Amino acid sequence: MNILILGNGGREHALAWCCSCDARVDHIWVAPGNAGVDREQRCATVDIDPLDTVALIDFIHKQKIDMTIVGPEAPLVQGVVDRLQEAGCAVFGPCQEAARLEGSKSYAKSFMAKHGIPTASYAVFEDANAAREYLRTQPLPIVIKADGLAAGKGVVVAQTEAEAESALHSMLEDQRFGSAGARVVIESFLEGEEASFIVVVDGKHALPLATSQDHKRIFEGDLGPNTGGMGAYSPAPVVTAEVHQRVMDRIIMPTIQAMADAGHPYTGFLYAGLMINAQGDPYVVEFNCRMGDPETQPILMRLESSLPELIQAALDKRLDEYAITWSNDVALGIVLAAPGYPDQPVIGQPADRLTQDAQANCKIFWAGLKSTSTGIITSGGRVACVTALGHDVASAQQTALAYIDKLGPTGLHFRRDIGYRAIKRTI
Ligand code: AMP
Ligand code: GLY
Repeated sequence: MNILILGNGGREHALAWCCSCDARVDHIWVAPGNAGVDREQRCATVDIDPLDTVALIDFIHKQKIDMTIVGPEAPLVQGVVDRLQEAGCAVFGPCQEAARLEGSKSYAKSFMAKHGIPTASYAVFEDANAAREYLRTQPLPIVIKADGLAAGKGVVVAQTEAEAESALHSMLEDQRFGSAGARVVIESFLEGEEASFIVVVDGKHALPLATSQDHKRIFEGDLGPNTGGMGAYSPAPVVTAEVHQRVMDRIIMPTIQAMADAGHPYTGFLYAGLMINAQGDPYVVEFNCRMGDPETQPILMRLESSLPELIQAALDKRLDEYAITWSNDVALGIVLAAPGYPDQPVIGQPADRLTQDAQANCKIFWAGLKSTSTGIITSGGRVACVTALGHDVASAQQTALAYIDKLGPTGLHFRRDIGYRAIKRTI
């Protein structure tokens, strides 16, 4: 079996590595991938832009690719699945219409309102003055979101009116996110603890992956601006068996049913970013139409089943017959980020220290790293994710930190407190 994976982050390195763990897979290509992919057995990068559907289809036919897995949201939102399917290729991901759940926050909110899926109350604006007027009627804190894709950076949780006004100004008037911020969603602030709930969907059935929790803020103690994610761990203890059932009943199954009823059944990974309140009631903070980054890294470290086999079961629409198995260990990933991330990451720095080999219980997934004639250099904001297994969160965290400390000075920024909420629960 030959597999093509689209994307270039740590998530895609992890997807490629996980596919390579199944010895029945012959070749895994990642377009365009990153320098970490080439280090895995039977894996290689191929320099094709995931948005270039003509080149992708040509490659899929020439290399006899049996299955394409789409990592990031941008190609999904632009319809890569529709184009590949029209060309007769087996591809795992939602169609363009279904990917709007992530591509437009205002669409996702109206979808949830229509189908009674629990989420924060909201209003949508394109006009800055109307938005300001609405703000004055709302309690603080308040959440301002760019409508379109902004790589996890288009959300401001404003503690003061001045912060909220400045977010509105930068999105609607300064066009900080271009057309993605030409419309904003203003949302009430939800209290509680977050979790990432990712399911594999075949149009009708949903198979939940292990739960996880990520840390989106740049600094320790969950302070500072939002990023794409600075670390994650799996499982998330906040998702008890009872909460899990509520998420399936109130959020996942109604979403899949509504998509099918609307004539565009959801196939692919569906990620519900949740806020779970003190009563254990889950609310949707966001939908993503893909796996999370960095959640994928710890989740896949725990997967004992074959990922290609799981995805094949989804493509064959028989997920209801598939039993997935997980390691009982906890996995925890710590992101190493370029200085200046998320606003202005400094790239092009030598990073040869990161080439240290993985240990049995710890692996480094590469992201913004590329090979040059003079060695490995940084090429993106999030550079790598050091992911460790342990019998509990604290031991997984210690293993990941020990690995990072052993690398010596890298000049990269990371948080030493990933998993602190889960650790606090156990002491
Ligand atoms: P999003 O990209 O929509 O997931 O938002 C990024 C982060 O902002 C979330 O992970 C939360 O930490 C925070 N956030 C977003 N919406 C809300 C909300 N309504 N209430 C509280 N926090 C939120
Ligand atoms: N880690 C958050 C995301 O992938 O959207």
